[in-house]
Amino acid sequence: MPTLLIRNIGSLVLAETAPRPFVAGRDMQALPQVNNAYLLIENGRFRAFGPMAECPGRADEVVDAGGGFVFPSWCDSHTHIVFAASREQEFVDRIKGLSYEEIARRGGGILNSARRLRETPEEELLASALRRIREIEALGTGAVEIKSGYGLTVESELKMLRVIQRLKEETAMPIKATFLGAHALPPEYRENREGYIRLIIDEMLPRIAGEGLADYIDAFCEKGFFTVAETEQLMEAGARYGLKAKVHVNQFNSLGSIPVCVKWNALSVDHLEVVSEEDIESLKGSNTMATLLPSAPFFINDPYQPARRLIDAGLPVALASDYNPGSTPSGKMQFVVSLACIKCGMLPEEAIHAATLNGARAMELEEDYGSIAVGKVANFFITPPIPSVAYLPYAFGSDLVERAFLRGELVD
Ligand code: NIG
Ligand code: FE
Repeated sequence: MPTLLIRNIGSLVLAETAPRPFVAGRDMQALPQVNNAYLLIENGRFRAFGPMAECPGRADEVVDAGGGFVFPSWCDSHTHIVFAASREQEFVDRIKGLSYEEIARRGGGILNSARRLRETPEEELLASALRRIREIEALGTGAVEIKSGYGLTVESELKMLRVIQRLKEETAMPIKATFLGAHALPPEYRENREGYIRLIIDEMLPRIAGEGLADYIDAFCEKGFFTVAETEQLMEAGARYGLKAKVHVNQFNSLGSIPVCVKWNALSVDHLEVVSEEDIESLKGSNTMATLLPSAPFFINDPYQPARRLIDAGLPVALASDYNPGSTPSGKMQFVVSLACIKCGMLPEEAIHAATLNGARAMELEEDYGSIAVGKVANFFITPPIPSVAYLPYAFGSDLVERAFLRGELVD
């Protein structure tokens, strides 16, 4: 079995001797690190680590980190990277004063992406999504969730989910697929909301589940999109097919969906720009991960997520990119971590936990990903020499992911 030895690591970050499934509240501040360390990988998994004084003498391949830090790869638990076209015209419209919601009301936004996706062949969607996968691999992402939701017809939702399925064969990182039929009400159903919900439940879900194309179900629960009652109907329908929920909630309004998601044992509630005390109370003691996407309010000029209130309430928090053509045309997790610190008040140690281990938990991948622990898959990246972990969010304009590895192999 081939071995790879990384020597002279300035600090091995999130190195766990007793792996935790996730980390919550105050514990998020205590980031386990081994300074001046080695890391041994065997057959694509972490085999051993420790101080350089105990470094094994030989391995099939040796990499000198030269004092650079080693981090576990980012676990990006919320993206929409299958899409047909960019939307920079809406970006310019927002600069001129229109809001994200106003653009959506005028038929732009998600419906703009849906029009483009419907007319784009599967092969073309695959090629562009694969370029985005290669991009995020190089940015240090080592596990990703991808949503449908720009099809909004039976055939186009299936087309998106097939693209996601095919992406799995093209990358060494694990991919989780989420069915987001309830992303926006398509124009054909403008006068018939109930009809679209029925289409999702009676036609889309059985086909998607039958073909094994989705791991999770999602809905955009928001004013002008889907109601709490509709979201609950969809979670219930998903549960009948064994699909847990990961739900877009509280981006612009707190409508009371978080307690309902918790009741349905949702895996995560995502966005959370607006959070009520009742929302926080309902998350306590639940299995639902609060997933913050600070690149979205950065890009569309909204209030940032109140991470401090969540963490200070003892909750676990995950960070994800939300990479999509409308609200977040970026999959750069290092920048997400910077925003989480600068704009949401998270400490660097908390943000690193949130973007790795807790992200893995929000995809049910924590047993194999999200930290450096013996037996986990060797997805990690090496930085240039840096003074401390705080330097990573601090140097927000520098690319600190110098060498990324997936299953112990260097990403070109
Ligand atoms: O997470 N808010 C809903 N969905 C996406 C944006 C989708 C789009 O604008 O294309 C989000 O921000
Ligand atoms: Fe999203």
